[in-house]
Amino acid sequence: MQPLRDSLRPLKSLTGTPPPFDPSAAPDNPLDLFVEWFTHAVEAGQVEPHAMTLSTVDADGVPDARVLILKDLTDDGWWFASSSASAKGVELTANPVAALTFYWPAVGRSVRVRGTVSRGSEDENARDFSRRGIGARAVALGSPQSQPLGSHDESEAAIELAARELDAHPELVSPTWTLWCVRPESVEFWQSDAERKHQRLRYGRQGQSWSTTLLWP
Ligand SMILES: Cc1cc2nc3c(=O)[nH]c(=O)nc-3n(C[C@H](O)[C@H](O)[C@H](O)COP(=O)(O)O)c2cc1C
Repeated sequence: MQPLRDSLRPLKSLTGTPPPFDPSAAPDNPLDLFVEWFTHAVEAGQVEPHAMTLSTVDADGVPDARVLILKDLTDDGWWFASSSASAKGVELTANPVAALTFYWPAVGRSVRVRGTVSRGSEDENARDFSRRGIGARAVALGSPQSQPLGSHDESEAAIELAARELDAHPELVSPTWTLWCVRPESVEFWQSDAERKHQRLRYGRQGQSWSTTLLWP
């Protein structure tokens, strides 16, 4: 195999334009700073700013990661939705801890969240499921996510069947559809700098409040 390094070398990174950031003026609560940064990323035209990497660990302690969509941010934490029978669902059930990573290249910023994970209630899960479009519900209902798939035809048939079931019983809810919430124990804000003097501000939970620490980049 031809090494990739010749293609990698000319590529630029951290080409975005970060706004001024003064960690000493940062809010007391990291959720407030997340909203500030997220809103700014949206306004700066960041594509899919709500896409994030969810990292989990399996029963053997081996890490796993994949990209998901952020569904909500509340006082409880960061929410996402997926199947409880998926690989991540199984991992989170066995070991309910996770990390989230956001990267917003347009503004040269990244946020890392680490914490414990809890599930939405049955009602919350059902409400979230029924808010999805018919196509997304059929896929969620008809697909055993993360299981080996024999062929494209097999998945088409299963989704078609699920769509017919939903047509006949629109109130149907996938029994595995689950909202998960990452309750933060620590949240780190990383801001790039043109001269590579990047800034890092980490919040750590201290009971009901938060402490902050600057980190070497
Ligand atoms: C931009 C993007 C958004 C995604 N959003 C979700 C999501 O919200 N929920 C989900 O279950 N999978 C989502 N996926 C698919 C996951 O990355 C992953 O393939 C799937 O959840 C199975 O992961 P697992 O086998 O580790 O459980 C998304 C993928 C991408 C690239």
